[in-house]
Amino acid sequence: MTVSTNPDLAALRWYLDMGIDEATGEVAADWLAPKPTATTAPAPAAGTAPAAVSGTAAPTAARTAAAQTILPPGASPPARPAAPVLPAAQDAQRLAQAARSLAELEDALRAFDGCGLKQTATNLVFGDGNPQSKVMLVGEAPGADEDRQGKPFVGVSGQLLDQMLGFIGLTRETFYISNQVYWRPPGNRKPTDAEVAACQPFIMRHIELVAPKLLVLVGGASTRTLLGRTDGVLKLRGRWFEYASPGLSGPIPAMVLLHPAFLLRTPAYKREVWRDLLTVKQRLDLLQ
Ligand code: URA
Repeated sequence: MTVSTNPDLAALRWYLDMGIDEATGEVAADWLAPKPTATTAPAPAAGTAPAAVSGTAAPTAARTAAAQTILPPGASPPARPAAPVLPAAQDAQRLAQAARSLAELEDALRAFDGCGLKQTATNLVFGDGNPQSKVMLVGEAPGADEDRQGKPFVGVSGQLLDQMLGFIGLTRETFYISNQVYWRPPGNRKPTDAEVAACQPFIMRHIELVAPKLLVLVGGASTRTLLGRTDGVLKLRGRWFEYASPGLSGPIPAMVLLHPAFLLRTPAYKREVWRDLLTVKQRLDLLQ
């Protein structure tokens, strides 16, 4: 990598390295400038909504709360009423279990504030494809393209995955796809254990509501979350496991597939993926 001596370019490079790879507004915000506090800010005229910042996504409650905590130097924070804090996992479990349909589950996720990823994401990335399908795939986490479009696997690795599944006759009309977490981790970092745990009841309920006949776990991350298998993905790929959860009528055969992003970096594994896809097809054919 060449190190730029232009300070503007060096700053941009630093932003990229920190995972800041998108502008969220037309005008740069000076987050260090003193902000008007609730007592000094002009109140919106009665009956009008506060003006939205141009070009930004609707602020989440957490973003709004964070913005309100910026105070002029020396000012002490106002006393706050203690917020009732539910442990995120308990809240997630309750919300997910209450959902009786995919639409209700999606609404529950939109209302859920227990996963920090939501604060930096633009869109919820829920699922795509045919929810009546016999095959459901679960990947790791949305990336930048998915975050922009609100759909899983629409970026470069998604296009490769579509191509791979096309080889065995599957399209988005005949498979259903989601991820183990529903918002993009900033800078495409790996989701933390806490973020994965917060979303886990939702993806488990998601699988129960789709009730596929076959589950394909795309990559090691969703394999660890849903099967609890910690061996390397190269050891697990191509093998059938059983996935079970209380809301399913019985265990579902689950296959571990190498992640297309891994394949893009390591094309030498194409042969293994091809073999694994044929195994999925054989099993699917038995279900027809
Ligand atoms: N990788 C994933 O695991 N999921 C996506 O949605 C996109 C890329």
